Amino acid sequence: MTEVTACWMSEGGRELTVLGIETSCDETSVAVLTGAHRVRSNVVATQFDVHAKYGGVVPELASRAHIENLDGAIQEAMAGAGVGRDEIDAVAVTARPGLMGCLLIGLTAAKTLALAWAKPLIGVNHVHAHACSAAIDLGPAAPPWPAVALVVSGGHTSLMLVRGPLDIETLGTTIDDAAGEAFDKVASILGLGFPGGPVVEKVAASGNPRAYDFPRTMLGDESLDFSFSGIKTAVLYRVHGPGKTAGGLARMSSQDVADVAASFQSAAVGVLVAKTLRAVERTGTRTVVIGGGVAANRYLRESLAAACQKRGVTLHLTPMCYCTDNGAMIAALGTHLLAAGRMDSLALEAQAAGAGEERRGK
Ligand code: KG4
Ligand code: ZN
Repeated sequence: MTEVTACWMSEGGRELTVLGIETSCDETSVAVLTGAHRVRSNVVATQFDVHAKYGGVVPELASRAHIENLDGAIQEAMAGAGVGRDEIDAVAVTARPGLMGCLLIGLTAAKTLALAWAKPLIGVNHVHAHACSAAIDLGPAAPPWPAVALVVSGGHTSLMLVRGPLDIETLGTTIDDAAGEAFDKVASILGLGFPGGPVVEKVAASGNPRAYDFPRTMLGDESLDFSFSGIKTAVLYRVHGPGKTAGGLARMSSQDVADVAASFQSAAVGVLVAKTLRAVERTGTRTVVIGGGVAANRYLRESLAAACQKRGVTLHLTPMCYCTDNGAMIAALGTHLLAAGRMDSLALEAQAAGAGEERRGK
């Protein structure tokens, strides 16, 4: 169930070492990072087995699983990194946005450790952490900023201008479903199981992306916002028939299913790539970074790489192991906040919402 990764190692003098805790949705993850880049441990306890039979994340079950997994994940991360409490400079934790019950589990654990170990507590914005996650692999010598960040996950789809880890402006966000949510719902419509993204990608590999012309909602010529509810409904009606929500799947061959998956993926990724390039033009920035669970999609990675190369734009892809939710990205952004003196008190509160607040610059 757990996996320990150490993707980046470096040497040097006295650098800050931060423990990062992530429990905003359905992954319990704890990491230890030194210098915001050197990942000494990154433990991820997934909950796929808990939610699979419901076809989506059940918040109450996710909270309970975090309670069961978190203590062990913290111990494993500390042992994997080979550090004791004395070497930890701060405890960073996802404070927003996310499922309220899930956030509270991580926040309570982080507050308890901060109090018991007499260390600073740092609340981290999860979406901002995804936006900065490509930097984990680049190291301190090559920060990619300023960059346009495309954050595509199960709960968020945002374009951001990242001037630096502590100066992030939201340029556009989804007005309905997130990209990952659309992948998950299409997987459910096609009877492919949960989580949907990886399985849609796998099935789409043997499908024809031009078989069906699903809507590519651009919201006009100017908008940097996204909408994925139309494509989801189009897939639903393609499978079951116009206006129908059941009964059609049994009539589809496995090739039909693959064609629908490939056509959906092509349309969704086409919009993500087009809007990212629109943000590049709008900001005049010549660098793009991409993070979040959907950034693990190879078709998206390849499509964006080809589009950026064509325009002479530099693309930094978040390493696959830091695309889906992880403690490493929380510790990385937490280190920048610590270095800037932006610690929180033990009165720090969890906030379920986030995207609208980011747009207003909070
Ligand atoms: O970032 P993440 O772990 O959690 C949130 O912050 O929401 O993203 C999870 C989402 C899920 O919707 C999952 O289906 C999607 O990322 N995902 C993918 C792939 N791997 C994960 N979507 C498309 N292709 C993938 N390979
Ligand atoms: Zn996430």
